[in-house]
Amino acid sequence: MAVLNVNIDHVATIRQARLTDEPDPVWAAVQCELAGANGITVHLRQDRRHICDRDVRLLKETVACKFNLEMCMAEPIVKIAEQLKPDQVTLVPEKRAELTTEGGLDCVRQKKRLAQVVKRMHKKKILVSTFIVPDAEQITASAEAGCDAVELHTGMYANAKSDRAIERRLNELRDGRDIAATAGLIVHAGHGLTYRNIRPVAMIEGLCEFNIGHSIVARAMLVGMKQATEEMIRLIRGIL
Ligand code: PXP
Repeated sequence: MAVLNVNIDHVATIRQARLTDEPDPVWAAVQCELAGANGITVHLRQDRRHICDRDVRLLKETVACKFNLEMCMAEPIVKIAEQLKPDQVTLVPEKRAELTTEGGLDCVRQKKRLAQVVKRMHKKKILVSTFIVPDAEQITASAEAGCDAVELHTGMYANAKSDRAIERRLNELRDGRDIAATAGLIVHAGHGLTYRNIRPVAMIEGLCEFNIGHSIVARAMLVGMKQATEEMIRLIRGIL
């Protein structure tokens, strides 16, 4: 059964809009966990636009479920991960001008650096996942660099408009899952997933872990974080 990690970056986005101390992502993480989330995901960006160092420090101490740190491979961030020791890191590309993570990590071009980062994370017993487009070369490069998992980018599926385009993107995810599984990788998925588009992806067997953020935080504003998390878990399980 696939599980849900709630990405709570945008709780911190609301806080940073006023540079104040509320809402606290640590409180939000507690609500997600009480609702049955498998994990909490946050992206510590180099510009600290939402999640900041204090958040990851406190979350590391308070999150009892899986703590998944999304991060780029810049040296200062890698050093923070080594000290923090989250359960898992998900390696992403990062551009300062982007609204959100735009594409997947280019593991083919950055394979040498990736292999170094994987080694350093494994030394600290941290699982490593790469956020990549569902492409055979990227998946193979992740496996060759020693990663434990890949997170298949569902953004293209989320943006697809016609039934044909949606089916094509779902097939890419299914193919990606097969290639990754054959390479011995655990398969996660995420980006752009919502209450409206999650079901067809949740029905793909072998996708073990979903990282979902914006849609859950948006719904939580209206119904509360616990209810929003519970509703998404029910959709993933096909019981809503
Ligand atoms: N997975 C990764 C690697 C991401 O970068 C993000 C966005 O931070 C997500 C999942 C969550 O995406 P969304 O906020 O669209 O659910």
